[in-house]
Amino acid sequence: MKNGIVLRGDLIWTEGPDRFRYIEGGYLSMEGGIIKGVSAEPPREGTILDYSGSLIIPGLSDLHLHAPQYSYAGLFMDEELLEWLEHHTFPEEARFADTGYAAKAYGAFVSDLTKGSTTRFSAFATIHREASLLLMRLLEDAGLSGYVGKVSMDRNSPKELSEDTHEAVEEEILFIDEASSFSRVRPIVTPRFIPSCSDELMEALGKIAGERDLPLQSHLDENPSEVEWVRALCPWADSYASAYDRFSALGPRTIMAHCVWPTEKEIGLLASTGTYVAHSPSSNGNLSSGIAPVRTFLEEGVNVGLATDVAGGSSLSMFRMITDSIQVSKLRWRLVDDTRKPLRFPEAFYLASKGGGSFFGKVGSFEPGYDADILVIDDWKGSTVLRSELSVPERLEFYAYRHPEEFISAKFVKGQRII
Ligand code: GUN
Ligand code: FE
Repeated sequence: MKNGIVLRGDLIWTEGPDRFRYIEGGYLSMEGGIIKGVSAEPPREGTILDYSGSLIIPGLSDLHLHAPQYSYAGLFMDEELLEWLEHHTFPEEARFADTGYAAKAYGAFVSDLTKGSTTRFSAFATIHREASLLLMRLLEDAGLSGYVGKVSMDRNSPKELSEDTHEAVEEEILFIDEASSFSRVRPIVTPRFIPSCSDELMEALGKIAGERDLPLQSHLDENPSEVEWVRALCPWADSYASAYDRFSALGPRTIMAHCVWPTEKEIGLLASTGTYVAHSPSSNGNLSSGIAPVRTFLEEGVNVGLATDVAGGSSLSMFRMITDSIQVSKLRWRLVDDTRKPLRFPEAFYLASKGGGSFFGKVGSFEPGYDADILVIDDWKGSTVLRSELSVPERLEFYAYRHPEEFISAKFVKGQRII
């Protein structure tokens, strides 16, 4: 541990969804970007960084967001999904054909993502290869880690945002080849969703992901009109999820955003394939999509993480996603199904850290061998009179519901300090 680093402070993390682990005034050791362990006493070796009095937590993973949509996050929230895509999303995404515009917009996005609570991400870009690579470069230079997908679309899209099928496949292969120059940011195969992708394109993309051993991301069961549309587009499929499955697009390296309206059979398919659900509570409220059955996912063994889905969600804050996921689960319990308990705070924190983090590897915990993704939060800066009376888990809950971003005083990704 000679070259190791040791962070001193109030450590708190989850190893499972049921409860927090914490050490007040503890020591978190890391070396070579990897967590070595936690202890109540100072380890014999390593350079100590003293964050006494601050919370030290694992980094949080945003399993699904749209980088080009950050420019209008917080606007245009009065329509449902399909109208919102047509009226606001597609016109804005079309602007990323201009790399000068993309550089400005992605610059602002990466700057804000860097300052916030997210350490890992899986992002959609747009159909434009050059702008997508530029986004990867900016994220890599900022020290963040995660996936970026050049979006594939060859039908039911405006012509500025549509590729022909052959071109979509060629561009995807070029994108993947050119993206191999990055190390912290990796490519992910990204069919936008079935309505935007012909069967031929879906088949080709599923094959590319398989042959090149790449992850894949898309959208599933977000909105009733969308689900109805897929039924009409894929009369041969049992369900929306089984249509993806037929294109080899489900599995433990796939993220499906939303899953608000799955049937029992679809939940079974998500569980048996190990597919990750990116639960996006803010977005599902803003776009009137509904409330995803997260408790059922957990009971049925579906992998789940949390996601902002910017700009469906208006905030990049993963703390906001933690508290929103709890709030919407309470509404679902009260209004839809009182046999399934709402999420509790440790469970929601687990989904945002180790739950979603597991998509990226050993990410989101302080167990030995995990990547050193760490947030330091100066919650003592708050003016509340109660602070000194609170336990470490209570302080984390208190911070999560208020989440002033300026309290994040240090952020490490794979051991590298980026704030
Ligand atoms: N489904 C297809 N595209 C999108 C998108 O950009 N945002 C959301 N929320 N859902 C989608
Ligand atoms: Fe989305």
